[in-house]
Amino acid sequence: MIIERQNMFNIKRIEKQIKDSPMAKQLDSLKQISELYLLRKAALNEIGTKLENLDAEYNVNFDHNPIHHMEERLKEPSSLLEKLSRKGYGLSLESITKNIYDVAGIRVITNYVSDIFKVQEALLKQDDVTLIKQKDYVSHPKSNGYRSLHLIVSVPVFLDEGVHETPVEIQVRTMAMDTWASLEHELSYKSFADDSEAKKYSQNLKEYSDQLFGIETNMQKIFDRLQEK
Ligand code: GTP
Ligand code: MG
Repeated sequence: MIIERQNMFNIKRIEKQIKDSPMAKQLDSLKQISELYLLRKAALNEIGTKLENLDAEYNVNFDHNPIHHMEERLKEPSSLLEKLSRKGYGLSLESITKNIYDVAGIRVITNYVSDIFKVQEALLKQDDVTLIKQKDYVSHPKSNGYRSLHLIVSVPVFLDEGVHETPVEIQVRTMAMDTWASLEHELSYKSFADDSEAKKYSQNLKEYSDQLFGIETNMQKIFDRLQEK
């Protein structure tokens, strides 16, 4: 059996190693950030397990499983620092706790558009899942064509020292929306020598998003008809 232990820090051991060095002053910050990652990872596990249980239920009891696959990730510390400075938030634990809800993130990829809302409903009706924020870019796409449902929820994480309501970001989107978003993401990180080239691509992408919307609407109709039979 493989026991996967992902915690990067053992605070007690580090404390002993650095207690006589100038780094000892940093120990409190290290403790706080490791506690934050511990909680956010635990919350990611909780939501991941909930979604896996739903996936298993759909496989056992239904003809159709709204979940195609899932991906999860913890935000890299460097991306966390980048986001804090981009948004003008302070570099403290209080500031991260108060402002940053996407340290733990999970993406659910569905087959059809209606599946997105089925997954949302199945999660939000669970007593221990609290909705903090919803952004529905499916019903209201962004001007660049981005479509996806974003939920920030919190779940209780039970540690030996107590219980902590902890946030997780969940992005729910179809396979077509996911393919589009990954290409758009690639393009937005590439720098183009020629500005008009970048503009042309973003115009193309907006058009492809509209086309995918049309295709997905028609595929949804076929799927709905098949479900009625
Ligand atoms: P961030 O600060 O980037 O986390 O965004 P936000 O806090 O304003 O929240 P929002 O719900 O708009 O976006 C959350 C995440 O969704 C982003 O970090 C991206 O992963 C994804 N996302 C949002 N907009 C776009 C977009 O236009 N294109 C792509 N490819 N991804 C996007
Ligand atoms: Mg984010």
